[in-house]
Amino acid sequence: MKDSIAVGVVGCGYWGPNLLRNFKVLPNCRVKAVCDASEERLIHMRSLYPDVEGVKDFDYLLNGVGLDAVIIATPVRHHYSLAKASLLAGKHTLIEKPMAASSAECEELIQIARSNGLVLMVGHTFLYSTPVQKITEIVQAGDIGEIRYINSRRLNLGLFQKDINVAWDLAPHDISIILHVLGERPETVNCQGNAHVTPGIEDITNISLSFKHKRFATIQSSWLEPRKVREMTIVGTRRMIVYDDLQTLEKIRIYDVRVERPPHYDTFADFHYSYHYGDSYIPHIRQEEPLKVECQHFLDCIETGLKPLTGGDEGLELVRILEAASKSLKDRGAPVALERSAEFPSYLMRADRTELPNGQPLCV
Ligand SMILES: NC(=O)c1ccc[n+]([C@@H]2O[C@H](COP(=O)([O-])OP(=O)(O)OC[C@H]3O[C@@H](n4cnc5c(N)ncnc54)[C@H](O)[C@@H]3O)[C@@H](O)[C@H]2O)c1
Repeated sequence: MKDSIAVGVVGCGYWGPNLLRNFKVLPNCRVKAVCDASEERLIHMRSLYPDVEGVKDFDYLLNGVGLDAVIIATPVRHHYSLAKASLLAGKHTLIEKPMAASSAECEELIQIARSNGLVLMVGHTFLYSTPVQKITEIVQAGDIGEIRYINSRRLNLGLFQKDINVAWDLAPHDISIILHVLGERPETVNCQGNAHVTPGIEDITNISLSFKHKRFATIQSSWLEPRKVREMTIVGTRRMIVYDDLQTLEKIRIYDVRVERPPHYDTFADFHYSYHYGDSYIPHIRQEEPLKVECQHFLDCIETGLKPLTGGDEGLELVRILEAASKSLKDRGAPVALERSAEFPSYLMRADRTELPNGQPLCV
């Protein structure tokens, strides 16, 4: 292996420059070029990084610059064609979330990556964040008991997308966290929503995921909210966790609260719910930019051949759930069953895993 991995970033709108900034500071990597369809964006990127070549022609980026890896941060409708060309050109490929516009596209990309021995990774960035790693650790250690319910809210004003609705834009973050924490896929998906601003593109959606053993998750996504909200509640049989990603230091609070039903009672008058109110505590969480950990993990996977935490299989799983949500949305919230055939690609269950990227131990 060469001592540094040559990387190119496609798409320099809102998110691409963040990827570029992080790859620029990683030691085992050289960002050689960026590509964008807009000359205006390229001029801006050249002014920020004069040492990085700015190219408009994607074929030239693939074949004329000498890259080992390509990062795709364009609108979702371009993910499949760009990633396919990148993989066929022999480049390790990191695609932003959601992986592609359909599960058929994801399956094809996985196949091409597999048959060419290339790393295919998807930007489920929150799984690289220290709060989510801490939550996973707490849940895996059994501290909160069995999870009963997860509720997640990701709301703000905009940013309105033109090719995908708010569920495809924002819910991938929540879904990836929920699947990771629960370690299983839902059995059914329901989704309701409305398009208030752009006809045909829902700006408010509510997704429900039903899992085995009556476990349940709800995800509210909105581009029509005056305040920015990034909140998740995880309700366990023994304790509950509130994760507020907008807090600077105290992002996770664990509440020692629960409610129990009496095991036996003779008459209705004897029946009392038992409410337990204990302490709450805030675990210490290291400050670390999740995107930097994600970028480093991609490079490490290229160097070591390790399967990424958020590879093609995880990207496909998420897109299958989004497709089911779109189907349910068209059918006014009717439940859509997910196929049970494929194995759930739970990272936590994988035998080759003992720790999370950046060295956090995995308590399985
Ligand atoms: N992981 C995260 O937390 C996170 C956060 C925000 C966005 N994203 C994802 O990043 C991706 C990009 O989102 P964004 O908000 O930056 O979009 P954007 O519209 O702001 O930027 C997209 C850029 O891609 C360029 N582009 C479009 N088609 C192209 C093509 N065929 N070849 C080259 N350049 C092309 C556009 O000119 C534009 O500059 C999306 O998949 C989005 O879901 C991820």
